[in-house]
Amino acid sequence: MDWASLFEFTIYDALFIVVILGFFFYWLMKTEEPLPPPPKQLELLPLTDMTVEELKKYDGVKNQHILFGLNGTIYDVSKGINFYGPGKAYGKLAGHDATRALGTMNQNTVSDEWDDHEGMTNDEKETANEWETQFKFKYPTVGRLVKSQSDKLDYQGKTSFIRGNDAVESVLSDKKTD
Ligand code: HEM
Repeated sequence: MDWASLFEFTIYDALFIVVILGFFFYWLMKTEEPLPPPPKQLELLPLTDMTVEELKKYDGVKNQHILFGLNGTIYDVSKGINFYGPGKAYGKLAGHDATRALGTMNQNTVSDEWDDHEGMTNDEKETANEWETQFKFKYPTVGRLVKSQSDKLDYQGKTSFIRGNDAVESVLSDKKTD
């Protein structure tokens, strides 16, 4: 057998191979999965105080926004959906007062009722404060977690905001005292 003739290409062989490869790459590109859309940026909520009952609906299921309370302030943690979304690691905090859970580092201590944080040790309170230091610069502040409707303040249509904006923050610092 003439082995050398086996490896001899004519211009037609080369063209044939180029056409086949062209079809192959076209097919590869066509069947590639389209990229998933980027996570939706939710609009900022209006600045609002809420009761524990009202907060519950912001659990990422009943409402797309995910909120939780910490030391009496409500944070919009929606962009942390991978932490707080349904079924995610810290999903139990969504729609709840997270103060005790974050202070004790135990999610099972979240309550469906008003929590006055009684019985938390100084260390636990300190831990909750450390979380808050982190969150107030990361997540928008929505308002205050209040015990009853009559404790609510009227923020006159202002929008929730990330701390550091002194002009808007002064609205919140006008905390109502009983
Ligand atoms: C084995 C135990 C745990 C491990 C290995 C762990 C690990 C982590 C890691 C890797 C992060 C991500 C940090 C980042 O990417 O910024 C994180 C964040 C966080 N963890 Fe844990 N964690 C544990 C237990 C807990 C517990 C018990 C709690 C409280 C209930 C908790 C609350 C949080 C919170 C609130 C965040 C911050 C999420 C945010 O930035 O919004 N973790 N944890």
